[in-house]
Amino acid sequence: MNQTSKETFDQEVNKRRTFAIISHPDAGKTTLTEKLLLFGGAIRLAGTVKGRKASKHATSDWMEIEKQRGISVTSSVMQFEYEGHKVNILDTPGHQDFSEDTYRTLTAADSAVMLIDSAKGVEAQTMKLFEVCRKRGIPIFTFINKMDREGQNPFDLLEEIENVLGIRSFPMNWPIGSGKQLCGVYDRHATRVELFQGDNHDEIKVQNVSGYDDEIIKNITTDYLFESLNEDLQLLDVAGDPFDYEKVKQGELTPVFFGSAINNFGVQTFLDNFLKLAPTPAPRESNQGQISPSDKNFSGFVFKIQANMNPAHRDRIAFLRICSGEFDRGMSVKHIRTGKNIKLAQPQQFMAQDRDIVEQAYAGDIIGLFDPGIFKIGDSLSVKANIEFDELPTFPPELFAKVIVKNALKNKQFQKGIEQLTDEGTVQYFQSISGDEKILGVVGQLQFEVFEYRMKVEYGVDIELHRLSYQLSRWIQADQIEPSKFRINSQLVFDKKGNHVALFENEYAMRTSMEKNENVQFLENPPQ
Ligand code: G4P
Repeated sequence: MNQTSKETFDQEVNKRRTFAIISHPDAGKTTLTEKLLLFGGAIRLAGTVKGRKASKHATSDWMEIEKQRGISVTSSVMQFEYEGHKVNILDTPGHQDFSEDTYRTLTAADSAVMLIDSAKGVEAQTMKLFEVCRKRGIPIFTFINKMDREGQNPFDLLEEIENVLGIRSFPMNWPIGSGKQLCGVYDRHATRVELFQGDNHDEIKVQNVSGYDDEIIKNITTDYLFESLNEDLQLLDVAGDPFDYEKVKQGELTPVFFGSAINNFGVQTFLDNFLKLAPTPAPRESNQGQISPSDKNFSGFVFKIQANMNPAHRDRIAFLRICSGEFDRGMSVKHIRTGKNIKLAQPQQFMAQDRDIVEQAYAGDIIGLFDPGIFKIGDSLSVKANIEFDELPTFPPELFAKVIVKNALKNKQFQKGIEQLTDEGTVQYFQSISGDEKILGVVGQLQFEVFEYRMKVEYGVDIELHRLSYQLSRWIQADQIEPSKFRINSQLVFDKKGNHVALFENEYAMRTSMEKNENVQFLENPPQ
């Protein structure tokens, strides 16, 4: 165990860059992820989105439902090597109904790439996810995509980022033209141009220049484009924020890149600069204080559980972020919640559906652990001290539905499905006090649809869902609970562990109930 010398170990950890891409749906996250994977040689052919709608599928989408709907439902993890770095990309569902999953995934990332559609600017989901990143204080890099389309003026986009999100920005590159006239980007940091050539602008040439007024740029652009590039950059040099790496690291200044993922424009400038600036694995907070990635003792936490990722195997994978030390296949670690020692025999690394058995991994990496039902989201593992990492965020459900299993003979399979899917953290399950009503709670409507679909496809159970009018839920704690006090526009139910939960139709019903039950605690999350 831990054969690696301290020097090699430190080198390995410092090579790691683990980040998540956050965006509003349709901004181009799947496309950008694929282009990055292509650069890293991790895939040979991008399942282009156009193709995705026909027969090919984006590499990062593995569930049938994602293919049908063309959205990313689950977060996947992908690793590739590029220029001496080990890059871990955490893909996150863009759809707001899955934001819980996204929030948890962000806890496993050391930085975030915020992808923005140049025509649409900062959108609703971008704002929410940005807030989560800001709370964590992680560095945020911005990629403004679809510059090949007629979008907003780059200055207006920067202003919008600063006004709406409240973060200062520093453009790392600047588009030369835009829309149909886009012919390249000028890399301010490396003083070079990435030029788009060929009849379809599909050849990319990277050339060093002396500055933005270099003849080389003049020769390949029109006078108008050259002049406006020079005007824009002079203005930025004089009036723009200076580049301040300390502020980038604190998440107070976002380096901005312009490009077009689908055409591969600006992607290399982005990747090269991003890898130079993105942080190495960060320390994590725990019950024993900060745990440094360079501590050679292995520790980590589970941030995601996914059942049946591969229909042929019907297995369950727990995704673990390694926070410190080195992981060696077959090592024994302590599962802190249960106090048991477990052997990590078949850990996996992912390229969407393709998995590799991983022999060694280091702080910053994400590994998939085969889970025979022992892990829960938020579980900590460590070899030495009883390290418990800080809790992951949970969200009280806001939508509820009564579940009816169409064929009573399938009840056993239904229970198994409930066990697994609730452990994944995407739905919550309740039962009425009388025990004859099954109720599901979710944060977003689409989670109901995914639940219904997965029950059918993965567990062979047909269900009917009937929406209930409740909108709020609170865990109830008291020495004595009187169900009669939870009858008006509310209902008292049990959660999976037998805790009392009250469901309310509206804020007013909840307040009334709080007033009537002075000695009762109303908690947003389940008691520990
Ligand atoms: P997402 O994962 O963020 O949801 O976005 P995705 O990559 O699936 O891209 C959404 C759409 O935007 C796709 O179009 C994709 O081809 C297009 N797109 C991505 N990057 C660029 C870019 O740099 N320039 C342009 N012009 N388009 C880009 P689609 O699904 O085929 O069609 P539609 O959604 O536009 O109808």
